Amino acid sequence: MKNIRTIAFVLFITLIFSFLAGCQNSTEGEASAEENEQQPIIIQGPMPIEAENFAAKLDDVEEETSGNFVFYKGKVDNYPVIVMKTGKGMENTAAATAIAIEKFDPAAIINQGTSGGHDPDLHVFDIVLGERTVNIGSLKTGHREDEEGIAPKEWIPMDLMASEGSAGEDPDAENIRYFEGDIELLEAAKAVKDTHEEGKVVEGTIGSADVWNNEVDRIQWFHENFGTSVEEMEGAAGAQIAKAYDVPYLGIRTLSNNKTNGGEYNPDTAEANQEYVYEVVKEYISK
Ligand code: 5AD
Repeated sequence: MKNIRTIAFVLFITLIFSFLAGCQNSTEGEASAEENEQQPIIIQGPMPIEAENFAAKLDDVEEETSGNFVFYKGKVDNYPVIVMKTGKGMENTAAATAIAIEKFDPAAIINQGTSGGHDPDLHVFDIVLGERTVNIGSLKTGHREDEEGIAPKEWIPMDLMASEGSAGEDPDAENIRYFEGDIELLEAAKAVKDTHEEGKVVEGTIGSADVWNNEVDRIQWFHENFGTSVEEMEGAAGAQIAKAYDVPYLGIRTLSNNKTNGGEYNPDTAEANQEYVYEVVKEYISK
């Protein structure tokens, strides 16, 4: 009888310990799931007019800077969202993207702002969702000798990611490098198209370079050869770095101007774009 009592006691203690160990494991499991859920969504905007409207919509905002870059860390629907003012251009955007990924381990990045139309069917206030983003400054010129002039229409694309060898000599580098927009971000963006009332929202190709093209023939050349819908100065730089770290990324650009159909520059487009991107973020969070 005494033996039976001892065995029952040992069994009871063992049960209690395994129960406690189980609890511990599931608490650890919940904590790590929660940590994952807390990975922020990052919204990039180059100029003050392209970031500050969104930043003003965040709850519980804290500001942080790194170099020239300003991070507005807050919440949307109780989910962490960081708005970044990156400054203009490819270099700022690439550096800001790398810093943001290292610092904040984001779940996703949306690069948004204004752009110039390459497609005559798109008008000021329309929005392009970057199904693809491409660097339109990454080009190789033809071979021409002294006094033979320049021929920009003969320039060919150059893929800096093709190999670790010389891009100038490697024939494999003579290709257009497109960065694909993240499918889930695209789905969220498509789901809220109707919230943008000032223009239409279409899927397309965003071209980027530290160049503002005002030559309509050149714009048409990019449209025909690279399939660009719009041009701006950041999207492909952020896309390249996000791809390097395997972080989901999408460019969302409104047309603030379009030389191909006489669309005059309108800076109010920047705010309208942020309103739309805010809806995209809420939709993405809800899923
Ligand atoms: N060409 C190049 N960049 C443009 N931007 C707006 N329109 C154009 C255009 N037609 C954006 C760039 C940059 C700033 C100058 O405005 O992305 O941030």
